[in-house]
Amino acid sequence: MILIDTHTHLFLEQFDDDRNKVVEDSIKNGVKKLFIPNIDSSTTEKVVKMGKDYPGICYPIIGLHPTSVKGNYREELEHVEQWLSKEKFYGIGETGIDLYWDKTFKKEQEEAFRYQINLAKRLGLPLIIHSRESFDEIFSVVDELNDEKLKGVFHSFTGTIEQAKKILSYKGFKIGIGGIVTFKNSGLANVVAKIDVGHLVLETDSPYLAPTPMRGRRNESSYLKLIAQKLADVYCVDIETVANITSQNAKKLFAIA
Ligand code: NI
Repeated sequence: MILIDTHTHLFLEQFDDDRNKVVEDSIKNGVKKLFIPNIDSSTTEKVVKMGKDYPGICYPIIGLHPTSVKGNYREELEHVEQWLSKEKFYGIGETGIDLYWDKTFKKEQEEAFRYQINLAKRLGLPLIIHSRESFDEIFSVVDELNDEKLKGVFHSFTGTIEQAKKILSYKGFKIGIGGIVTFKNSGLANVVAKIDVGHLVLETDSPYLAPTPMRGRRNESSYLKLIAQKLADVYCVDIETVANITSQNAKKLFAIA
């Protein structure tokens, strides 16, 4: 069985003391490939280093996270383009719009999101979309720019069935499911039950959002197994079926063997 964590921030300082062990535990638990989305220019070198330290296991992704969009966002986007010209990346992100933490730079967030969509289309790379209290804003930008070249993931999905259907109407997109699906009161399992597993990829978003029964602790990629098991229960299939389908989805989306 092979599981793929399509979203982990393994470069963050929460893993500085035991990063090697986290990767080893992940592999031992069948989670054999990890995609590593960037935050901003302060983390790019760490993301690149992950790909070099763990070739064939860690896959770097570069972009500007919406909560890092400030007055200097144009320089940040230039930084992204410069790195894209000298290193191999497997996606653009994470990007999107976050209106939960701060609305000060709403316009700039939309601008940076637009820019990264166009970049992803130009380079043929998948886009990692972060949406927090911002589905309407995200949908209106994607409605405008979607075409047959655009593909990606709506990461850490927590929306309604209507929002899931809207995402799938874009054709090139998968829905990223993480630890929240295991939280009793989230209601997400009921929504996911109505979506075909063929539209899903799995993610931890570690170190955040550890699944039950690890909830509240530092999350790590090995816990992806708990998320896969929850989906197996939701769909009444075995965990191998969930692993096979979601890993195929991830490999195809990120164009890896
Ligand atoms: Ni993230």
